[in-house]
Order: sequence, then C-alpha cells, then structure tokens
Amino acid sequence: MSKNLSQLELLIELEPVAERELNRHLATAKNWHPHEYVPWSEGRNFAAMGGADWEPGQSRLSEVAKAAMVVNLLTEDNLPSYHREIAENFSRDGAWGSWVGRWTAEENRHGITMRDYLVVTRGVDPVALEHARMVHMTRGADTPATWDDTNVLYGLAYVTFQELATRVSHRNTGKVCDDPIADKMLQRIAADENLHMVFYRNMCGAALDLAPDQALEAIAMIVRRFQMPGVGMPDFRRKAALIAKHGIYDPRQHLDDVLAPVLRRWNIFDRNDFGAPGERCREELSAFLEKLQRDAARFEERRDRILMAEAARRLAAEAGDSGRA
Ligand SMILES: [Fe+2]
Ligand SMILES: [Fe+2]
Repeated sequence: MSKNLSQLELLIELEPVAERELNRHLATAKNWHPHEYVPWSEGRNFAAMGGADWEPGQSRLSEVAKAAMVVNLLTEDNLPSYHREIAENFSRDGAWGSWVGRWTAEENRHGITMRDYLVVTRGVDPVALEHARMVHMTRGADTPATWDDTNVLYGLAYVTFQELATRVSHRNTGKVCDDPIADKMLQRIAADENLHMVFYRNMCGAALDLAPDQALEAIAMIVRRFQMPGVGMPDFRRKAALIAKHGIYDPRQHLDDVLAPVLRRWNIFDRNDFGAPGERCREELSAFLEKLQRDAARFEERRDRILMAEAARRLAAEAGDSGRA
C-alpha cells in the first residue's frame, strides 16, 4: 500500500513535474489578442453618449445562446475567486507559482474577449450583464464545503475536469450562437481551456504515480461531488436547464466527454498499483459511473420527449396560423 504524503511533500515531489509541464505549456500555448476577435465596426454609443440604449431586438442571439454566453462569461469573470483557490491549493513559489500567474493571465483574456463581443454586438443587455457580474463576483466562488481547499490533490482533480467541462461548454456555445465571429472566438477560448486541462491532467497523473491511493481517493471524491462553477450565479438553475436541454453541457457530455476520457487517460481501471484503500475507491467510482450512465440515459429520454412535444406544438401552431391566413 502506498503511504500518504503530506501536502508539503506532494508539492515538493511534484514541483519538477510542474516545471516540465509549465515549459511544455509555454512552448505550445498561442499568444493571441482579444481585440482581434471582436467586430468593432458594429459598435455604437449608448444613450449616455448620445446614442441608443440596448433593447432586445438588437440581439441576433437566440435565448439559448444568450443564456450560455452569460453563464460562460460570468464563470470567466469570477477569476479572482479561482485565482485565490488555486493559489491556496497549490503554492506561490517556484514552478507552481509561475503556473498560477500564467494561468490567471491567460484566463483573464477569456472574460475580456467575451464581454467586448457581447457589448459591441449588443448580444445581451449590458445593464443586466453588469448587475449579474456584480452579484456573482461579490458572492465569489467557494470550494464546496465538502473538501479542504488546501488539498493539492483535490485541487488538481477538480480543475482537470472543470477545464475540460469549460472547453466543451465554450465550444458548444460557439455553435449555438449561429455567428461565425462568436464561433471563432469561442473556439479560440476552448483551445486555451484544453491546454489548461492538459497541464492539470498531467499533474494529477503524476500524483497518481507518486501516491496512487491518496490521489485516487481525491479523484473519486471530486467525480462524486463535481459541480460546475456557475452554481450560485443569478438565474443559474434556469440557464443551466436550457444549456443542458440544448446539448451545450448535459449529463451525457459530462460523462462521455469529460469524466471518461480523463479517467481512461489515467488508466484508472487497469492500473495495478493501488492498495486496499485504492481498490475500494475504484469500486465505488465504478458504481458511481454506472449510476451516471443510467442518469444520463434517463435525462436523454426525458429531453427527447420534451423536444418532440415542443416541436409538435410548434407545428400545430403554424398550421393554425396558415389556416387562418
Ligand atoms: Fe477560461
Ligand atoms: Fe482554463
């Protein structure tokens, strides 16, 4: 059975990996510019400067696209909370500290670009958006009370899944916007999220090799308790339901596109270096994934029924309209 390492031991043992991963990241990451992704020629003044204030007809985004854009942007806006979380989970020294700074600077681009796009194209009400940002950032994002926010393994496992979840969500939001400019912008952002995921996934993989039982206990706990960071933002439940209903981020994607590929990459179900605690965790994890599989199938059946009923109602209404015309 592998012995449990202290937080300090983990940070010290993993620092050479953090350095290698940071250098790999810096050699791979593209240095892009937010201003090149925003159609500035569409911009015009608001009433305070002699122009016109926002009204709904100005937006070319569907209700679903608006909801997804706002959730994704408010998530990016809460960067100060996440910075604090990862600075506390990891370390501000050496390669760990360099990564925390670099990651924070890269993440800041995402919020800058998305807000500029939404304000310039009048995609959403800028007053409501600013109100939601104030509420969400004032509340901040906290580590769920179920785990210790100074635990490097919980931190690594959470951000691995979270970065990949964000990548999926941005990518699908780009598609639903039905605007090539938004799609290109969100593809660019999603590519960043993917590189972030790779850094954390490789770090967590190294932690598994170093302390298999301890790392798997953290991974299994995070998989069981995973929540997207949007929980707590204004109107989140309604928006998250829309996002799931329209396939931007739903239980099937969470299981098949986020959890499964990462667990496969870590070789969780084929490794032979776990002791008794790790074996127990693996069995629990396996049972949990089977439950998620059933939940995802149920969700899809329910969604199909709802979407079919909505389509039938729309067709009936259209037929009624043409009958009257
Ligand atoms: Fe981001
Ligand atoms: Fe990211």
